[in-house]
Amino acid sequence: ERANMALVFDRYRAKLTMLPKEKGWITENLYMYQGFWHQSSRRISVETLMALQDTFKAHPTDIYLATLPKSGTTWLKALVFALVNRNQYTYNCLSTHPLLVSNPHNCLPFIETEIFRNTPTYVNGHSPRLFATHIPYTSLPRSILDSGCRLVYLCRNPKDVLVSMFHFANKLRDKSRGLMTIAEAFDLFSKGVMPTGPYWDHVKGYHKAENVFFLTYEDLKKDTVNNVKRLAKFVGHPFTEEEEADGAVQGIIRLCSFESLREVNKHGYLRDDIPNDAFFREGKVGDWTNHLTDEMSRILDEITEEKFYGLDISC
Ligand code: A3P
Repeated sequence: ERANMALVFDRYRAKLTMLPKEKGWITENLYMYQGFWHQSSRRISVETLMALQDTFKAHPTDIYLATLPKSGTTWLKALVFALVNRNQYTYNCLSTHPLLVSNPHNCLPFIETEIFRNTPTYVNGHSPRLFATHIPYTSLPRSILDSGCRLVYLCRNPKDVLVSMFHFANKLRDKSRGLMTIAEAFDLFSKGVMPTGPYWDHVKGYHKAENVFFLTYEDLKKDTVNNVKRLAKFVGHPFTEEEEADGAVQGIIRLCSFESLREVNKHGYLRDDIPNDAFFREGKVGDWTNHLTDEMSRILDEITEEKFYGLDISC
């Protein structure tokens, strides 16, 4: 895998010098490519994006889960994996379900990380193939857009994304860089600078697109049952009446709950540098009130109001 990464990165790194640069949250820098900020030299990076744009082949039956980082990607991955595979892995056979032994990121990969694998993962043998991505809509590899496959977008309140990203970055960034302050995180976020940001442009890109099932973290929290049922239908695995009577919906919701996943992932590492527990912090709506000043909140509300003016986006 390391050799593959090196090849991908070498090929595209030369182009980096031409791109506008900003201070990164986790990595040293972020680079502006096709209107969005991207990390470099990590699996989810601008070099990977360029490689995917050149090579990625979608299948018409694929399902893509698109999100900005810290919008609930891990939760959505768990839900869709559990829904689509519920005949193979029954939600009530608790000892053997992959989500009870493995991080959701291992069960359902990002296309950005898949490119580095020498050997095909389980997804190649399955239809539909399930993938996640943080790539902005307008930068998606052409074949995803052309193949007419299903896309799910999960969006989350910008202030909660900012706060979640702030904590995540402080867990993952190189110790030599020291910790970020919330003021620094706020400055970057409000300028649109975060991995695959600007936040507002990322959300708008998917909101405008036609073939996208658009969901918010807040709605998923508030009415989990109905939204999970809608999601099941969209991914082509609607619940039967018998399943519903049997408690299948609740079973899957429990399996993918914050408490359950946090418990499974309290030890170990996703990869060398990312502890499994980094993806499970509070799992709440509105935690921003504990971190942002009134002034920060007001400024972000103003930006959001202006950027989302006339759009029906409520998160
Ligand atoms: P907080 O930092 O606000 O707690 P992502 O998966 O896109 O990286 O997003 C991580 C955020 O989703 C974190 O938010 C995390 O706690 C929350 N999260 C993870 N698993 C969840 C689950 N099963 N249900 C609800 N929220 C979850």
